[in-house]
Amino acid sequence: MRLIFLGPPGAGKGTQAKVVSERFNIPHISTGDILREAVRTNSPVGWQAKSYMEKGELVPDEIVTKIVVERLKMPDTSNGFILDGFPRTKQQAVSLDEELKKIKKALDYVIYFKTSPQMSIARLSGRRVCRSCGANYHLVNIKPKKEGVCDLCGGELYQREDDKEKTVENRLKVYQLQTRDLIDYYKSKGILETVSGDLNVEEVFDELSKFFKNIDAHRFK
Ligand code: AP5
Repeated sequence: MRLIFLGPPGAGKGTQAKVVSERFNIPHISTGDILREAVRTNSPVGWQAKSYMEKGELVPDEIVTKIVVERLKMPDTSNGFILDGFPRTKQQAVSLDEELKKIKKALDYVIYFKTSPQMSIARLSGRRVCRSCGANYHLVNIKPKKEGVCDLCGGELYQREDDKEKTVENRLKVYQLQTRDLIDYYKSKGILETVSGDLNVEEVFDELSKFFKNIDAHRFK
């Protein structure tokens, strides 16, 4: 199954993508995670991306699209994938369509996580991430057993630089200006499915499960 998870910052795309990826045994491809890793390891892509990410701006289309095109060539994508955080501009969406056409594949669904700006802000301001394994927590909604410590690996939890208030405001503006139009783009292709991102983690997953249950599994073989 070839899926895109679309929605504003903090909508819960990454949280749900992890579970769906395990359930369907397809890779979760998060451009945010790939770019953060590039910055962390000081790679050439990381140097180019860093200043944009710090300001909550989009990294230029050419850089991000190249990353995704290369990633989609890897063998683990043969049964499908979840793209989380890509595409984010019309240009990225068109490039993805062209790339998939070349390999005679098409997207199955774009899941839009409809979420209010207030909810995005509450989620992002409380998010804490494990420095070692990348697991996500929330100060109120998804607390670790021991404050500041990852349940899974014991790593230190920290706040992402771009989750601080000023940058979050800008990320939401950037989403409205550059990404929101993709909802109509995919609606017009007849592959958009909307879930309510404002619900709690289990409720969102239930909505997704109902949707997937209704799909004919044979279609994706
Ligand atoms: P990226 O990492 O993709 O950030 P984002 O899209 O803003 O997404 P987030 O990770 O913030 O939110 P999410 O929807 O995944 O929410 P999550 O599940 O983590 O991008 C970062 C930057 O990289 C961009 O600003 C840009 O600079 C660059 N970039 C990336 N892709 C790019 C592209 N294609 N083009 C150009 N530039 C690009 O959840 C958030 C919090 O809420 C967590 O604490 C979680 O525990 C909690 N939570 C989740 N779901 C629920 C729920 N249902 N109820 C309660 N709490 C919940």
